[in-house]
Amino acid sequence: MKFFVDTADTAEIKSLASSGLLDGVTTNPSLIAKSGKKFVNVIAEICEIVPGPVSAEVAATDFDGMMAEARVLRRIAKNVTIKVPLTVDGLRACKTLSDDGTAVNVTLCFSPAQALLAAKAGASFVSPFVGRLDDIGQDGMGLIAEIMEIYQNYSFRTEVLVASVRHTMHVIQAAKLGAHVATLPPDVLRALFNHPLTDKGLAAFLADWAKTGQSIV
Ligand code: E4P
Repeated sequence: MKFFVDTADTAEIKSLASSGLLDGVTTNPSLIAKSGKKFVNVIAEICEIVPGPVSAEVAATDFDGMMAEARVLRRIAKNVTIKVPLTVDGLRACKTLSDDGTAVNVTLCFSPAQALLAAKAGASFVSPFVGRLDDIGQDGMGLIAEIMEIYQNYSFRTEVLVASVRHTMHVIQAAKLGAHVATLPPDVLRALFNHPLTDKGLAAFLADWAKTGQSIV
């Protein structure tokens, strides 16, 4: 399973990338606004930090506008993935860009039917938002299961990028379902590393080691 981080905070990205376990980055207009930086500059900065796919979302809602923005965004760096919304125009842009060899992430996916369309449009990634479905009392992870089944039935190459992740159990459930990627807020990515028994066990080992008076180097 690939791990992307869902942020435009370059300090966070640098720190998480140093783990060697970060495969890519997703951003959205809200995260760009939060960064307080110019969109094109922050995407360029992120692309230098992380060699994997970096999703940059168009702001236009019509086909021509999306294509014009995509042309600007994909010039920033080779690893830019163009993110388009799951709308009729977004899927048309996805098909056109994908046919041209550009990686596209279709975002704001909330149903299996939408995911099927994204795959048919040649998306590199589809982003189902599990947390936002859970928020309204629907089964976010159930959607991932349905999409995985449909994609496997037809051997679609579109990768399921689990988005709107709220906690580590979302990550584990998605991994059990074989989802290809999860994009995680920095705190959720950090939480994956933690277990209180690891901390407790390490503290005990270090205390005992100190008693030996030895050093390894
Ligand atoms: C995905 O690419 C989106 O940026 C993101 O996961 C949305 O998550 P949210 O529901 O926490 O805003």
